[in-house]
Amino acid sequence: MARKKVSVVGSGFVGSTLGHILICKELADVVLVDIESLKSKTKGKALDMAESTPVHGSSVKVIGGSDYSDTINSDVVVITAGIPRRPGMTREDLISTNADITKKVTEEIVSRSPDSILIYVTNPLDAIVYLGHKISGFPRNRVIGQAGVLDTARYRYFVAEALGVSVRDVQAMVLGGHGDDMVPLTRHTSIGGVPMDQLLDKDIIDGIVERTRKGGGEIVGLLEDGSAYYAPAASVAEMVESILKDQKRVLPVTALLQGEYGLENMFIGVPTVLGENGLERVIEVDLDDSEKSMFDKSVESVRFTLETLDKMGY
Ligand code: APR
Repeated sequence: MARKKVSVVGSGFVGSTLGHILICKELADVVLVDIESLKSKTKGKALDMAESTPVHGSSVKVIGGSDYSDTINSDVVVITAGIPRRPGMTREDLISTNADITKKVTEEIVSRSPDSILIYVTNPLDAIVYLGHKISGFPRNRVIGQAGVLDTARYRYFVAEALGVSVRDVQAMVLGGHGDDMVPLTRHTSIGGVPMDQLLDKDIIDGIVERTRKGGGEIVGLLEDGSAYYAPAASVAEMVESILKDQKRVLPVTALLQGEYGLENMFIGVPTVLGENGLERVIEVDLDDSEKSMFDKSVESVRFTLETLDKMGY
């Protein structure tokens, strides 16, 4: 049986960190692709990673460069190509530059890997997944975006930190768009099976929700010259693993809704089942009035970004 193949487009901070996680976990052969002027650097990063495989005890191959023919017949393609945020920027400020890049990259990829599953990471995420779906012409199960796993990871980390417990025991889910009005589902958060509101006061929970929503911005502010990459890369790796191993993990991803949550043709973060076919199912969570109104607000923000792309002629 041939080994699985994952191509990562954009070998910057997120892409190269992801590549390294994938090879450490021996999940697939990895191809890193970046622009022509970074060909040598990308080749160098891949060679450096390849030289780490004996230490990791990993038998996968990794190559890098700027030639899309290396990506042919990939099982999964992760697209991180684009520019990241700088302090003071919103994710939406990236839209015109990153939409152009996404269009170009998607065309290069789909002609060579027509059966692949595409995972977008580039921001503004929900709009970029919408564009990727449109350009690729792939069915919805093969075009998804990474945001919810990251937002949920941040939220789980803050909850665990507040309680002084292991992050492993915090079960949670963040829904909605990858923006400052995402919806951490506090009512459905539990710690070792115990509902969170039995363990933490409301004002602490409110603070955690607020910090989660601004989590990306907090890192941008600290780094000063780029955005987060360790947690985003780890989050994509979890999605890739669930797909390649057909684990059927329940993970929040940015997906095309076709009637679920009462929405049509909307790309937003919802809980899904990820397996060998990519997005295998969208799980609908019952939302109470306050959760519903937060979700609706997030939907409106995403709708505005999608309409912006339409107006720009994509
Ligand atoms: N084809 C291939 N790669 C490209 C292209 C292109 N047309 N255009 C840009 N890239 C590459 C850049 O050369 C760079 O190496 O994408 C890479 C992006 O890497 P970084 O600048 O380090 O950005 P990173 O932190 O990895 O974030 C990438 O993910 O989280 C989001 O908001 C973030 O949109 C950003 C993306």
